[in-house]
Amino acid sequence: MDPQFWHDKWHQNNIGFHDAKVNSMLATYFPTVISKSPVRVFVPLCGKTRDIKWLLDQGYSVVASELSEVAVMALFSDLGIDPEIVADGSVRRYSAPLIDVFVGDIFELIPHQIGPIDAVYDRAALVALPRNLRNRFGPHVHDLTRGATQLLLSFEYDQSLMAGPPFSVKGHEISRIYGQFYRIEPVSRSMPIDSFNGRLSQSSGSERTVWHLHK
Ligand SMILES: C[S@@+](CC[C@H](N)C(=O)[O-])C[C@H]1O[C@@H](n2cnc3c(N)ncnc32)[C@H](O)[C@@H]1O
Repeated sequence: MDPQFWHDKWHQNNIGFHDAKVNSMLATYFPTVISKSPVRVFVPLCGKTRDIKWLLDQGYSVVASELSEVAVMALFSDLGIDPEIVADGSVRRYSAPLIDVFVGDIFELIPHQIGPIDAVYDRAALVALPRNLRNRFGPHVHDLTRGATQLLLSFEYDQSLMAGPPFSVKGHEISRIYGQFYRIEPVSRSMPIDSFNGRLSQSSGSERTVWHLHK
């Protein structure tokens, strides 16, 4: 899954993963698993998610990472915020009070750039990546955020029924990637609310899962 795959999706507005509403799992579980306040939240592979507005509205500050400048311009337009844009190493940083979004490859980011992080919110980030990139992504996010606690939203389904993304990332895979760093607690398990444009039927046994990763 090379960067062009995602750039093409954004340029063609082929973004079925984008949800016009705030993710209900975020609103339900983030406040229960993230206790420390004030909290600076890292949102990897953020797209133009409405979840960032929810986090800001709750009083959290947000640091995010996204490959596509199209996505990030749309994110700030939706927020009604005019960001300052500066070059920062090999990426560009879009900044405004309480929010910094790094535009470019997340694997180019270093901890010093994103600063201290209290929590990570992963929705459609780990599951967006094929196995070889998941193997790099997990340790990288851990190192970038210096082991900050995570709320991780995943999907489980029979991978032979649908080509990702989103990929099926089951509990044992999360343990394989993150088990060396975190204790991994299951938080919830439910039926997905969409069928990924009809690619997965209701009877496929697919589930959306929520995990809390912590030290
Ligand atoms: C499935 S989308 C999810 C977006 C968002 N989390 C959401 O819930 O709507 C995955 C996003 O990751 C971005 N992405 C993919 N590879 C990336 C990378 N190496 N660095 C930063 N962003 C990346 C894509 O451009 C895309 O917007």
